[in-house]
Amino acid sequence: MRNVYLITTFLVVLTLSVLGLRGGYFTKSPIDVFPDTLFPGMKFTSKVRTQGGFSFFSDGRSDRLPPSGVVAYSQPFRGDDSVLYLGKAADGSWVRGYPASLKVDLAFVQRGRERYTIYCSPCHGNVGDGNGITKRYGMGATPSYHDDRIRNLPEGDIFDVITNGKGPAYQMGGYADKIEPKDRWAIIAYVRSLQRAQLGTINDVPAQVKTELGIK
Ligand code: HEC
Repeated sequence: MRNVYLITTFLVVLTLSVLGLRGGYFTKSPIDVFPDTLFPGMKFTSKVRTQGGFSFFSDGRSDRLPPSGVVAYSQPFRGDDSVLYLGKAADGSWVRGYPASLKVDLAFVQRGRERYTIYCSPCHGNVGDGNGITKRYGMGATPSYHDDRIRNLPEGDIFDVITNGKGPAYQMGGYADKIEPKDRWAIIAYVRSLQRAQLGTINDVPAQVKTELGIK
């Protein structure tokens, strides 16, 4: 019988000590059982505190200034090439066409296709008709690119849509942190090719292919 009492007491103490104070909220600093002179622990190491003083540097501050030319990552880049980075001409209007520094060729469009398939097709669909997979999950507001208004949007405007998103509640989020400027232009070139593809006529088919297909 005595053992039963002992074991029960032991179990109660064990349970309370392991679980008893879990989730408790303390406002006082914990008691340091060991004097910190003997066991300094990590709490008492000498360290530099943010926005504090530090005699090591001649200006006496712990924080260092960023090197000159640093661009805050959350700020839009306002470099000297506003066409490449903002899609805007010098007068602030949306540019038509592509930045002069980019070569728009097949490789460029293929790069655009790859990026488009990753980032845009879930909503806009593989052919740009707005019937991506998200439509099945209730996202009905994605427009089709094959609409005259969007066909006529300047390239610079589309660049801005990719960079900053679109819609009153940003139904389309911005992709500035995921797609670098050059790739945004490549995507635009691919969007243009998707739009062009819908406007194809029999006259676009090369003569040789026409014969192969048996079309006169
Ligand atoms: C999460 C779904 C989603 C993704 C992903 C998405 N879009 Fe959109 N996009 C939308 C919606 C929704 C709108 C309509 C926003 C509005 O005008 O209310 C839109 C609008 C647009 C427009 C028309 C802008 C205008 O002026 O009307 C273009 C062009 C466009 N998107 C291009 C892209 C490109 C390029 C990508 C890939 C980088 C992309 N979108 C990725 C949902 C998406």
